[in-house]
Amino acid sequence: MEKIRIDKFLSSQLNISRTDAKKLLRGGQVTVNGEKADKAELPVDADRDAVAVGGKAVGYKKHLYIMMNKPAGVVSASRDENEKTVIDLLPEPLRRAGLFPAGRLDKDTTGFVLITDDGAFAHDILSPRRHVPKNYTVWTQRALTDAETERFRGGMTVGDTVFEKAEIEPDRYDPDENRWLYSVTIREGRYHQLKIMFAALGAPLVRLRRNRIGGLALDPSLLPGQARELTPEEVSSVKG
Ligand code: URA
Repeated sequence: MEKIRIDKFLSSQLNISRTDAKKLLRGGQVTVNGEKADKAELPVDADRDAVAVGGKAVGYKKHLYIMMNKPAGVVSASRDENEKTVIDLLPEPLRRAGLFPAGRLDKDTTGFVLITDDGAFAHDILSPRRHVPKNYTVWTQRALTDAETERFRGGMTVGDTVFEKAEIEPDRYDPDENRWLYSVTIREGRYHQLKIMFAALGAPLVRLRRNRIGGLALDPSLLPGQARELTPEEVSSVKG
């Protein structure tokens, strides 16, 4: 494993500025393998060296991978002048510089958003060539006809856009809201894709929730706005 400077290690793992990391070092609170470390440029091997601050071990994670149940009304962006973002909702222990949502949901769409600081991983799952399936529940105002679902499955052309073949299955009818629910899986991630496809069928969607990315489903115990870190197995299952 490549070595990194101790001030950089501390700032990335504790989510503090490099200046504050240097203050900790100067203050004599940091040890590496039990020895006091006070030089900012001291190289550490993040996999082997035991770093502690005030006697408390600081584990090392090169990247963070987070699942969020996005509520309606927040935008899938790292920063926004006027709107609340998914990054703003992260609890303190999951905050770190460089996090961004890997794939966007519209402001009014709810459900599974993956947040990471691993650009290569994000690129991999978002690349159109990888065809990572994303599953959604769609709420519509009317039932689709068989001809319409066949059109959806066959790869629809809307204007100049040719959408890839997609999967659609009826889920259930909700009599309280008078809505028809469908389970839909798409393998591309075009802007407003499902809104455009359902509008083109003449059955505009009235609500949308993402349930699954690749082999990983949204954790049903996460309430809207809540997030948790993924296990390494879960991270691998996204691509699977
Ligand atoms: N399709 C949409 O129209 N919106 C989303 O947020 C995701 C897929």
